[in-house]
Amino acid sequence: MTANSDIRIEVFFTPKHVEEMQLKDKNVIVIDVLRASTTIAVALYNGAKEIIPVGSIENAAKISGNLLGDVTLRAGERNAKMIEGFNLGNSPLEYREEVVRGKSIIFITTNGSGAIVRGRYAKKLVVAAFVNLSSVVDYFVRLSENVTIICAGNANNFSLEDAVCAGRVVNELKKKIPGRCITDDAAEAAQALDKSFGRSILKLLKATEHGKYLCEIGFEDDLVFCSKQDILPVLPLLAGSTVRLATEPDRKTLAG
Ligand code: MLT
Repeated sequence: MTANSDIRIEVFFTPKHVEEMQLKDKNVIVIDVLRASTTIAVALYNGAKEIIPVGSIENAAKISGNLLGDVTLRAGERNAKMIEGFNLGNSPLEYREEVVRGKSIIFITTNGSGAIVRGRYAKKLVVAAFVNLSSVVDYFVRLSENVTIICAGNANNFSLEDAVCAGRVVNELKKKIPGRCITDDAAEAAQALDKSFGRSILKLLKATEHGKYLCEIGFEDDLVFCSKQDILPVLPLLAGSTVRLATEPDRKTLAG
């Protein structure tokens, strides 16, 4: 791709209609604001060695059987609650430095981890949420290639928070690469959703189906954390079958 060629941006509001092989050789962004993407960003920021996303509990058990217990954590959720026998749930607030530093984290969630696994043949796959949005946008500005954004959604249904985050990524890319981005209809719709609902992300999260459910079961503080834009300057990148930091975060830039 030459320096001034067009950049095509496409958005999928759920992973349902995306086949693994369709993503081969594409540059992919996976978004699961509540909460898998946010949790991955904070785990890596706090020093986790790697996140190993898996699609099923059986696979999580198989993989952890081959890894050393003291450097491995099993993490994730079912119905947003910690899985029995696991070390961690999916609340970003659990992934404190003293808990995750140096650890390999086997990670299974209802939607987010599966969406990442589906993108395993992508040319590049980056995990995004509001907390690390600018790091992801800046990376794709530098890359200057076509982008496919996949919203993890909820049980193969549309999630407003992921769509708004996708729209914000598209809006920012268009701002930073003026005149070169060509968007599909879903990307246009996502941009419009960001413009209508994106003024207060916390208010938005509290109004979403999954946000309301998380509040009902006691995770209101997670919504506050997930709503903060750009507090984690990290770029979680899939390398083989694990998600790792592309570069070390600049800790001085941590805000809020
Ligand atoms: C998911 O992957 O479905 C979510 O992150 C669910 C959750 O809030 O734990």
